[in-house]
Amino acid sequence: MIAKTEPCVEANSGAPVAQFLPEIYKESLDEKVILIVGGANGIGASLVGLCCQNGAYVSIGDIDAVRGDYVASKCIEHWPVHSDPALPPKPPRAAFQRTDVTDYQSVLDLFDNTFNKYKRIDHVVVTAGSTETEEPWFDHALNLTEIRKPPSSRDIDVNLIGTLYVTRIASVYLRHNRGPGVDRSILLFSCSAGFKETPGVSVYQASKHGVQGLMRSLRANFSSPYKHSIRINTICPWMTLTGNSFPKSVEDRWTKEGLPLSTPLDVAQVSAGVLCDQSLNGASMFVAGTRAWEIEGNMERLESQWLGEEPSQTLAQGQKVLQEALAA
Ligand SMILES: NC(=O)c1ccc[n+]([C@@H]2O[C@H](COP(=O)([O-])OP(=O)(O)OC[C@H]3O[C@@H](n4cnc5c(N)ncnc54)[C@H](O)[C@@H]3O)[C@@H](O)[C@H]2O)c1
Repeated sequence: MIAKTEPCVEANSGAPVAQFLPEIYKESLDEKVILIVGGANGIGASLVGLCCQNGAYVSIGDIDAVRGDYVASKCIEHWPVHSDPALPPKPPRAAFQRTDVTDYQSVLDLFDNTFNKYKRIDHVVVTAGSTETEEPWFDHALNLTEIRKPPSSRDIDVNLIGTLYVTRIASVYLRHNRGPGVDRSILLFSCSAGFKETPGVSVYQASKHGVQGLMRSLRANFSSPYKHSIRINTICPWMTLTGNSFPKSVEDRWTKEGLPLSTPLDVAQVSAGVLCDQSLNGASMFVAGTRAWEIEGNMERLESQWLGEEPSQTLAQGQKVLQEALAA
C-alpha cells in the first residue's frame, strides 16, 4: 500500500534509503481546490502561498482570524483569478473562515462553505497544531496536592481530535462532485516526535503518534468500498523556524551543533510535492532542513529484521484474519 519514492539511493549500510525529491507541477495544482486547516501561520501559510502560486484555489480554516484574513487577501492580490466574461465568474483564489479544529460543528461549517463556494474539494491538509512545552502531566515535582488539578489536554484536542474531525469530514466531502479515478488526498501533520521519542513533550508526542496511527489505519482502507481512491499521507517535520518552534535556547544550541533547520517553505515544498505525486499513499516524509526522507517503506520492508522472521510471518497472518473478519 505504501508507494515507493523515487529515486532510492544507497546508504552506507547498502540498504536503500528513500530520499523524497519533491516535484511541484503547475498542472497538478492548477484549478485544484485545496482546503488547509491551520493555514494562517507557519508551514500552513507557506503552503497556502505555494498552492495559490501554482494556480490552486485555497480555502483556509484557522482559529487566528487576523492572520487568516491577511494571508487570504495577500493571495487574492498576488495571484488574481481571471474569469472569461462569457462564463459565470470564478471563485476567489483564496478564502478564509475562522475555524476551531477542536469544535466539530466549526470544522463542518468550513467544509460546507468551501464546497458551496468552490463546488468540490480535491485535497485536504491539516497543519493546525499545538505544542505545550511545559510538562503539567508528568512533572517529577508533582505531589498529591498538585495531581488534583486536571492538566491541559490542548495538544490532544488540537493535534489529534482536530485531525480526526477533519479527516472524517474530508473522507466524505472528497468523494463528492468528482468522477472515479480523479486524484484526491488528505495530508496530515505529524512530527519527528510521531515516530521518535522526545523528552518533555509527552502529551504532544502521544498526539503525533496518534496522527501517524490514524494515517496507517486508513491508508489501506480508504479506497474501499466506494471505488474512490483517496490517498492519505503524513509530513513529519523536524526543527522548523515558525512561531511553534522550540525555545530560543534550543534553537541556538541546534544551530551551534550544525543540525538541519527547515524554513516553513522547505516543509511546504515537500508537502506540495506529496499533494502532486499521485503514486504516494501511506507515506510519511521526515523533513530535515531542505531534505525529506520517506520512512514507512523501510519499516515495512525490514520488518522481518527488526521483529524477527517468525513473529513477522505470524503477525501478517493474524492481521489478515483481522482484516477479513472486520471487513466482512
Ligand atoms: N515548527 C516545527 O518545528 C514543527 C516540528 C514538527 C512538527 N510541526 C507540526 O507542523 C504543523 C505546523 O506547525 P507550525 O510550526 O507551522 O505551527 P504554527 O503555530 O506556526 O501554525 C499552526 C497554526 O495552527 C493554528 N491553530 C492552533 N490551534 C488551532 C485550533 N484550535 N483550530 C484551528 N487552528 C488552530 C494556529 O492559529 C496556527 O495558524 C503542526 O502540526 C506542528 O505540530 C512543527
